[in-house]
Amino acid sequence: MKDMNEIINYCKQYGFIFPGSEIYGGLSNSFDYGTLGRELKNNIKEAWTKKFINEEINNYSLDSAIIMNPEVWVASGHVASFADPLIDCKSCKSRHRADKLIEDFTKGEETGDGWSNEKLEAYIKENNIVCPKCGKSDFTPIRKFNLLFETHIGVTEDAKSKAYLRGETAQGIFVNFVNVQRSMRAKVPFGIGQIGKAFRNEITPGNFIFRTREFEQMELEFFCKPGTDLEWFEYYKNQCLNFLYNTIGLSKENLRYRDHAKEELAFYSKATTDIEYKFPMGFGELWGIADRTDYDLSVHMNHSGEDLRYLDPETNEKYLPYVIEPSVGVDRLLLATLCESLTTEKLENEDRLILKIKPYLAPYKIAVLPLIKKVHADKAVEVYKELSKSFVCTYDETANIGKRYRREDAIGTPWCITVDDETLNNNTVTIRDRDTMEQVTLKLDEVKDYIAKKLEY
Ligand code: GAP
Repeated sequence: MKDMNEIINYCKQYGFIFPGSEIYGGLSNSFDYGTLGRELKNNIKEAWTKKFINEEINNYSLDSAIIMNPEVWVASGHVASFADPLIDCKSCKSRHRADKLIEDFTKGEETGDGWSNEKLEAYIKENNIVCPKCGKSDFTPIRKFNLLFETHIGVTEDAKSKAYLRGETAQGIFVNFVNVQRSMRAKVPFGIGQIGKAFRNEITPGNFIFRTREFEQMELEFFCKPGTDLEWFEYYKNQCLNFLYNTIGLSKENLRYRDHAKEELAFYSKATTDIEYKFPMGFGELWGIADRTDYDLSVHMNHSGEDLRYLDPETNEKYLPYVIEPSVGVDRLLLATLCESLTTEKLENEDRLILKIKPYLAPYKIAVLPLIKKVHADKAVEVYKELSKSFVCTYDETANIGKRYRREDAIGTPWCITVDDETLNNNTVTIRDRDTMEQVTLKLDEVKDYIAKKLEY
C-alpha cells in the first residue's frame, strides 16, 4: 500500500482531489474533487444505491434539506451533546481531542468512545500521554466542544434566526419517516436511504479526506419491528462487509469488525459495530452499523407532538419501529478504494503505476486513442462520440501510444481502444485490457455490447 503522501500527490497530479481554495493559500482540511475524483465518487455512490436501495425490495431513497428546522437538532440531542472532548496543552497551547490522544497512544486498541471526561483524564494521566506537538504532559481539564456548524437564516443574526448545517443526513430521514412510509405505501420492515453532505466542526480533522469538516455520508435507516432488530442488525453487518469485499474490492485482510463494548454504546443503542479499514496510518472506522432502537422516532414524536407510530395493517397494532443504521462516509470509502487499488507493478523493463479498481468504479471506462494523430484522429473522434453516448470515455491523441497506455493505467481506465489503419479499412479496433495488457480485435459495432457485458455487476 502506498503511504498517505503518495496518495495525496497522486490525487493532485491526476486530477482526483485538489487542496481547497488553493490560489488563496488553501483552507485547512478542505478539498475539491477534480474531474476523475468526481467520477469515482459518483460511481461509488451509484454502487451503494444499487446495493442498498435498488436491489433491496423494501428500501426507498430520499434527498432531504441540509438546513432544517433547528428543533430537529434539539430533539435529536445534537444541540445538547454532539460534542467532542477537547483538551488543551498548557505548554504549547495546541488543541487536541482527548479520545484521539488515547487512540493514537494505544495504536487504536482503545478508542475512548463513550468514556466520561473523568475516565479520559485519568487514562491520560496514568499513562503519561504526551502532547504530540511539544512532548509535554501538561493538559487542561477536558471541555465539551459542540460540532454543529451554526448559521443564520434571513437578515438578522439573533437567536431566533439561528439554524444549523446538518451534522448527519440521518435526521432528514427520521423527520420524513411518515411521509415516505405513506407515499410509498411501505410496510415495516423497510428502509430509507440517502446520500448527502454533512458538516462537523471537527477539532482534529486530518489524514487527508479521512476526517474533514465537510463530507458526504451514505446512510440507511432500516425500520423494523421491535424484537426483529438484532436479526436485521446482523443482516446489514453482512451486507456492508460483502459490499466492501465484492463490490468495492477491498481485501479481507484490510477489513475488520469492531464490536462496541457495552460501556462504549450510546445509552439508546442495543448494539453497534464499526467496520474498520487498514488505512496507511492504521485501522480506522469506515462504516458504523448501529441498532438505535426506537430512540430517534420517539424523541421526534415527543418533541414535535406528531404521532410517528406505524399502524400494522395486519395486526392493527400501533408501534414505533426500531432502527438499524448502517452509515458510511463517501470520502472515507473513496480514500479506502484508492489506498487499496493504487499499486506499482514491476514489468520487465519498467515499473507501471496502475489503479487496479473495479471497472464499474473506474472514472473513465474507455480511452479512445488514435494510433497516429494525423492519420487516425478523425475516425477516433467519431468512435469517441459514439461510445460516449453509452460510457464515460476519454480521448487522448498526445504522445506515443505506450505513454498514453501508461497514463490510462495510472488512472484506472479498464479499456483502451486504439484506432488504426485496420479501423479505417475494416472497421475493426483493438481493445487493450488494463490488467492483463492483452489486446483483442473487434468490429466497431460489437464494442458497445462487449464493454457493457464486462461492466455488469
Ligand atoms: N448517523 C450516524 C453517524 O453519523 P458517525 O459514525 O458519526 O455516525 C458515520 O458517521 C460515518 O460517516 C463514519 O463511519 C465515517 O465513514 C463518516 N464520517 C464521520 N465523520 C466524518 C468526517 N469528519 N469526515 C469524513 N467522514 C466522516
